[in-house]
Amino acid sequence: MSGKGTGLAGRLTAYGDEGFAKFLRETFLLARGYGADDLDRPVVAICDTGSDFNPCHATAPQLVEAISRGVSMAGGLPLVFPTISLHESFAHPTSMFLRNLMSMDTEEMLKALPLDSAVLIGGCDKTIPAQLMGAISADVPTLSVTVGPMLTGSNEGTRLGACTDCRRLWTEHRAGAMSDTELRTAQSQLMASHGTCMVMGTASTMACIAETLGFMLPGGASIPAVHSERLRHAEASGRRAVEMARGAGPLPSSLVTKASARNAAVALQALGGSTNVTIHLAAILGRAGVTLDLEELDEIGRKTPILCDLKPVGRLYMQDFHAAGGFPALLRELAEAGHFDADTTSADGRQWSEVLDDWPAWSDTTIIRKAADPVVEGSAIAVLRGSLVPGGAILKQAAMSAHLRQHEGPALVFDGLEDLAARIDDPDLEVTPDHVLVLRNIGPVGAPGMPEAGSIPIPLKLAREGVRDMVRISDARMSGTAYGAVVLHASPEAAVGGPLALVRDGDRIRLDTEARMLDLLVDEDELERRRAEWSAPEVPARGYAKLFVESVQQAEHGCDFDFLVGTDGARDE
Ligand code: FES
Ligand code: MG
Repeated sequence: MSGKGTGLAGRLTAYGDEGFAKFLRETFLLARGYGADDLDRPVVAICDTGSDFNPCHATAPQLVEAISRGVSMAGGLPLVFPTISLHESFAHPTSMFLRNLMSMDTEEMLKALPLDSAVLIGGCDKTIPAQLMGAISADVPTLSVTVGPMLTGSNEGTRLGACTDCRRLWTEHRAGAMSDTELRTAQSQLMASHGTCMVMGTASTMACIAETLGFMLPGGASIPAVHSERLRHAEASGRRAVEMARGAGPLPSSLVTKASARNAAVALQALGGSTNVTIHLAAILGRAGVTLDLEELDEIGRKTPILCDLKPVGRLYMQDFHAAGGFPALLRELAEAGHFDADTTSADGRQWSEVLDDWPAWSDTTIIRKAADPVVEGSAIAVLRGSLVPGGAILKQAAMSAHLRQHEGPALVFDGLEDLAARIDDPDLEVTPDHVLVLRNIGPVGAPGMPEAGSIPIPLKLAREGVRDMVRISDARMSGTAYGAVVLHASPEAAVGGPLALVRDGDRIRLDTEARMLDLLVDEDELERRRAEWSAPEVPARGYAKLFVESVQQAEHGCDFDFLVGTDGARDE
């Protein structure tokens, strides 16, 4: 059925009689007030992820309306459906715990509903990967429309951005450099409009990845949430979804290829994008049977210049990126410099080469830089290996203090979030700026769900002395809006017996970012003794947590459930 525009007659049903299935579906829709003539059209399903618990998606109702209008004007039938919605701050224990559930919800609804194409409204961090994972496995012609980034606010002449500045302000407050009143005043300006965090965090990076892969109409990623242009983009997406429903495709399985996967990694590195996207990208590609291992990601990072001057790596915000030409302007620079393969498909049906030829020229090259003039030298995201992380680890090299790029120091180990909370502010904590802070048991299995706790706070007594960065290592993730010498996604994680589980206070740890090495300087006999004493944590007794812990893969494989990788193959209709 997919892509043929057969409307409500589509999809084989339990009735085994297509005519009766259509008759019955029409009857139910007549009961909702549709006219009989309205129903013989291609069906475009619109996924509404608006929720009071997802403030980032507050504009979903307007987007639903604009997409529906586009669908109707192009002769399709728009039908809206919900799935679960995930917001970063309103999902316990972490939105990542629920990403795979949202992907299953999306996949199964796309397979269950009588639809010809779909437009998925996403935005807040985990929603876009969850939706793309589901769409690829369902293999339905799909467009992504994101809610778009917030506008910036300003406080005492300084622009503020969520949530890079949420962290910076809290750090200042914690160190005693900012009063409660000053913090409250600044807080009111942190999020000046609806939308997603307006730095190059996970939401912004994922929107660009969706655009690169051909799931979002060109230019869509950077349009601010509250600009009228976003409504026009949504309407255009509705129109395009009707073309896709009428057979223009393409199917997600044809969009996700080795070439588009490499392009996505190039985009991630050139954007100075979120470390979380290394995980999401692996999971998205895994659904299409495409692999891009950590070595390839690192190799691409070594070659790709960081061209996007956005926080947390650079200075500015998504509305500035949009005003400077948006994501296609960046892709054009990358294509001209030989990094981006423009013989790949964009969501408007043309090759990227055609899109980039037509994209307006901008003269401002301070925000989207020329390839010869990167924002910072070196890789955005580096991949580490070594005796502490044989399965790999990630470091946002571009957002760390340069003096820590080569570092050796003694370990100070925290056994989990409770242990960290109990001791990190202890004035008697024996810690120096040379210490390497290790936090474990918060990986995919350990927490479970790998919370964004990897950006371990600087111990209070050092923060008060002015220390702002230290080498920190964990099996957790970090918010895409955070920064520092923070080694993340240590694999295998402690909860499955990785070397991280064996580290003890005082062990020497050596980080060499140039050589991409992270080593635990303890001899193998001693580690073997410690390994014999280690025991695995208990598996939850029931429910989704049990399914999660028993099925989740390690970070380098995208933390997808092992049984979700791939697709069901060709659709049966
Ligand atoms: Fe929703 Fe940042 S919290 S995008
Ligand atoms: Mg985030």
